[in-house]
Amino acid sequence: MKNRQIEANPTRWHVLDNPEAVAAQAAQRILQAASRAITERGRFRIVLAGGRTPQAAYGLLIGADTDWSRWEIYFGDERCLPVDDVERNSLMAARALLDSTAVPAAQVHPIPAERGAETAAGEYEPVVRAALPFDLVLLGMGEDGHTASLFPGQQHPADQLVHAVHNAPKPPPDRVSLSARALSEAREVLVLVTGAGKQAAIRGWRAGEQLPIAGIGGSAQVDVLLDKAAQA
Ligand code: 6PG
Repeated sequence: MKNRQIEANPTRWHVLDNPEAVAAQAAQRILQAASRAITERGRFRIVLAGGRTPQAAYGLLIGADTDWSRWEIYFGDERCLPVDDVERNSLMAARALLDSTAVPAAQVHPIPAERGAETAAGEYEPVVRAALPFDLVLLGMGEDGHTASLFPGQQHPADQLVHAVHNAPKPPPDRVSLSARALSEAREVLVLVTGAGKQAAIRGWRAGEQLPIAGIGGSAQVDVLLDKAAQA
C-alpha cells in the first residue's frame, strides 16, 4: 500500500507598499474568489476576520459588482461580549460592510459568543461543519503570531472545529475561535498583515517557528498580503 501524504501548498508571499495597497489587493482577491465560487458552485462561503487590517478591505467591497445574494458569511473568531459591543467582530463586519450590502440576513452566521465561550462553540460547530469547505478564509495576524483567537501556547483538542478560548492575552480573555483544522478546510486562505509590529512574527513564521498562524494551510492555498513595514 502506498503511503500517500497530502502535499501542503507552499505559502505565497506578496509584499505591497502600504496598508492601503494591502486592503486594495485583498478586496480584489475577495471579489475574484466570489466570482469563481458563484460561477462554479452558485454560492460564496467566506470566513471574515476581526482586527483592523481586514476592516480596511471590507470598506472597499461596498458597491462592488457581485451577486451579494449568493454570499454566505462566517466568522473566524468572536469575542465573548454583548452583541452590540463595538469590540465584537460581528458588529465591526456589519458596520464596515454587511449593512451596506444585499447579503440576506439568514446567510450571515455570527458566532453566538454572547452566550459564553463553551455554549457558543458548541452551537457554532454544526454551522461550520455544514459549511465546509469554505471558499475563502480571511485572517489577520497578531504581533505574537496569533490568528483568529488561536494564541501561542494555548492547547485545544485537534479534532474540534470550534474552540472555546479562555485567558486570551489580547482582550477580552474569553473568545470563540474556529480551529486550525476548520480554518484550513478552505479552497483559499488570505492572510492580511500590516505594520512594523508584525515583523518579528513574520520572521518567525518564515523561519518555521510553530506559531498559530503557521498551523493554517494544509492543502489550502495560503496567500499572505503584507506591507513593507511588516516585511522583516
Ligand atoms: C481578533 C482577530 C485577531 C486579529 C489579529 C490582527 O478578533 O482579535 O481575529 O486574530 O485578526 O489580532 O489584528 P490587527 O489586524 O488589528 O492587527
